Amino acid sequence: MQATDWDARYAEKAQWSTGPNALIAAELDGLPPGRAVDLAAGEGRHARWLAGRGWDVTAVDFSGVGLDRGRAAPGGDAVRWVVADVLSWAPAEPVALDLVLVAYLHLPGTDTVALLTRAVGWLAPGGRLLVLGHDVENTTRGVGGPQDPAILHSVDRLAPVAALLEVDRLAQVERPTPAGTALDTLLLGRRGR
Ligand SMILES: C[S@@+](CC[C@H](N)C(=O)[O-])C[C@H]1O[C@@H](n2cnc3c(N)ncnc32)[C@H](O)[C@@H]1O
Repeated sequence: MQATDWDARYAEKAQWSTGPNALIAAELDGLPPGRAVDLAAGEGRHARWLAGRGWDVTAVDFSGVGLDRGRAAPGGDAVRWVVADVLSWAPAEPVALDLVLVAYLHLPGTDTVALLTRAVGWLAPGGRLLVLGHDVENTTRGVGGPQDPAILHSVDRLAPVAALLEVDRLAQVERPTPAGTALDTLLLGRRGR
């Protein structure tokens, strides 16, 4: 989907929950706050949640309409909102992030690995990369989400990125939804010191 397609979706109605994904909240709650980037932040549910915990957060998305929703939501004024294509955007130098979060961004596999590899390079030693998205098996054994297998995640597909990190978790995970159980892929790792 292009930026204009996402703008149209966000203009029609709010798309995601106002609060963070439960797994992301569980993994990140309690970490000492630092500098974070939320790539493909959409309406900023995670960016606003992190900012509420004291993080200095930059939220990047190519949908200005989605980011405008986040900016207008409670806590939105505590986040830096950047309208940009994540495939070409980079944080200002010097870069030493404590967290890069990428939730439910689905791109062709080579773009995903290239983007996440760049993102690892933005981390300070000990900084974390958290990637969560629909698993490729969700199309056959789960519910909801995009149905094009070429843009979905899996443990194998994220393995080249995990190889750059000290991995805390790399797994297929279940996500309960009102429609049934969805299958996601989770990668959480730290840049070596
Ligand atoms: C499913 S939404 C997820 C939003 C948010 N991460 C969340 O979990 O609530 C996917 C988002 O990716 C954004 N997106 C897709 N491709 C992008 C790109 N190349 N550059 C920037 N944003 C992109 C869309 O605009 C959309 O907001």
